[in-house]
Amino acid sequence: MSSNLAQKLRVGTKKAHTMAENVGFVKCFLKGVVEKNSYRKLVGNLYFVYSAMEEEMEKLQDHPIISQINFKELYRQKTLEQDLNYYYGATWREQVQLSSAGKAYVQRIRELAETEPELLVAHSYTRYLGDLSGGQILKGIAQTAMKLDDGGTAFYEFDDIQNEKEFKAKYRQTLDELPIDDATGDRIVEEANDAFGMNMKMFQELEGNLVKAIGIMVYNSLIRRRTRGSTELATAE
Ligand code: HEM
Repeated sequence: MSSNLAQKLRVGTKKAHTMAENVGFVKCFLKGVVEKNSYRKLVGNLYFVYSAMEEEMEKLQDHPIISQINFKELYRQKTLEQDLNYYYGATWREQVQLSSAGKAYVQRIRELAETEPELLVAHSYTRYLGDLSGGQILKGIAQTAMKLDDGGTAFYEFDDIQNEKEFKAKYRQTLDELPIDDATGDRIVEEANDAFGMNMKMFQELEGNLVKAIGIMVYNSLIRRRTRGSTELATAE
């Protein structure tokens, strides 16, 4: 019997998806305005989020619901480690820190694993289906904007998935076949909306960094122009 959860999630998070796409940091990213320092902070946060999610799903591998949705080929922890090594170097573990929004996100995942593990379906859906959907486009943008040619995009690469479209169809079918009742389905949709909110908060934190970085760049270029201008003036005189 189908719970129709895939459709419920798609429809039930449509508004949240549009809101997430419209956060300044995400909009800038799509336009190719990506600042390396902000981006690596996001990668750091995502590392802690995915590590928590994947650790908890591993512990729950015999759980009647989580066991169904625990696809190892989706795991992102290792790819995020690779990217952090690229952005921060070999001492990345000593350098990466969780932001306050990232901390709340991780805490929620840990809490659910203890109290209502079935709601972790919402977190799996929000991140992995999103990664599978926009990954290739975002990878291209990151490469062009940050002039990456030798790494930094492992997160977007699913080496163990041959066809992302087919995999998404399989994932959606698995969602539909989960042994859940309507009330649990509704709670999962509610949690997925909260998960979108947690992602938005992480992006919003980075917006401040991005604006500051752009401000510094503009300021520096103005100073350079003024200095150059006065030198040129001095030379002319
Ligand atoms: C950068 C801005 C974004 C763009 C351009 C984008 C684009 C897309 C597109 C085109 C799809 C549809 C794929 C399909 O029909 O198979 C999709 C689906 C999805 N996206 Fe995004 N997305 C963005 C941001 C996000 C964010 C921030 C999240 C959550 C953290 C997210 C989560 C999802 C999910 C869960 C789906 C699957 C929807 C479903 O079919 O149930 N997206 N996205």
